Amino acid sequence: MTYVVGNWKMHGRRQAAGALLRACADAASAAGPEVEVVVCPPAVWLTEAASIIAPSPLKLGGQDCHAQAEGAFTGDISAPMLREAGCDFVIVGHSERRAGHGETDAQVRAKAEAAIRAGLRPIICVGEPPAERAAGRAGAFVLAQAKASVPERLDASQFLLAYEPIWAIGSGRTPSAAEIEEIHGRLAAAFPGAPVLYGGSVKKTNALEILKIPGVGGVLVGGASLAAAEFGGIIAAASAQAPV
Ligand code: PGA
Repeated sequence: MTYVVGNWKMHGRRQAAGALLRACADAASAAGPEVEVVVCPPAVWLTEAASIIAPSPLKLGGQDCHAQAEGAFTGDISAPMLREAGCDFVIVGHSERRAGHGETDAQVRAKAEAAIRAGLRPIICVGEPPAERAAGRAGAFVLAQAKASVPERLDASQFLLAYEPIWAIGSGRTPSAAEIEEIHGRLAAAFPGAPVLYGGSVKKTNALEILKIPGVGGVLVGGASLAAAEFGGIIAAASAQAPV
């Protein structure tokens, strides 16, 4: 299976979100059987999104969840709530959460555990800051972060990893194919069988090239998931590349 996941972040007002969801549902319906398309819109739209996209094969994901199922946590959303809203997936540990909300590896791991308890598949994000890459320590950094962020004793089918170098997110820059292959190889060795997505400036023009890199099990797409033609192009690239 090749995964194409759209992370809308805090984008998409109601009307635009509805139109984009309909386009994504059509693109997911046209995708090959070995391509799983997931969109992660802002949480307020999830329930409505679930009815807009039904009965298409498009899946929904949350962008974050709390580690507790319920409680006095103003502004937070729990994994069981996401599940009830129609999600199958949830992104945890995105670098924007780690940087902007001070999330630690331990918190990310607790969120991933909560997601699995709720019947969701967490997409656990890891990625090095520019200084670690410049110092030649990207591989060691990412591996340590992943080992601390992924719950122990998981079956590979219960979660996904996403390698997102921080400096590649929203920058238009991507690592070389060799650099992506090296990190994905390390993650595959540490977490055998778990899909490892690449994220960071994926567009329809580079998607096929990235998806062909050994060890890349899909893509996590930010900016390019907000335009139907771009995201549709990435889904088409995944369909062209995925084994049938
Ligand atoms: P980008 O974001 O595709 O806009 O670089 C990726 C992400 O943050 O998941």
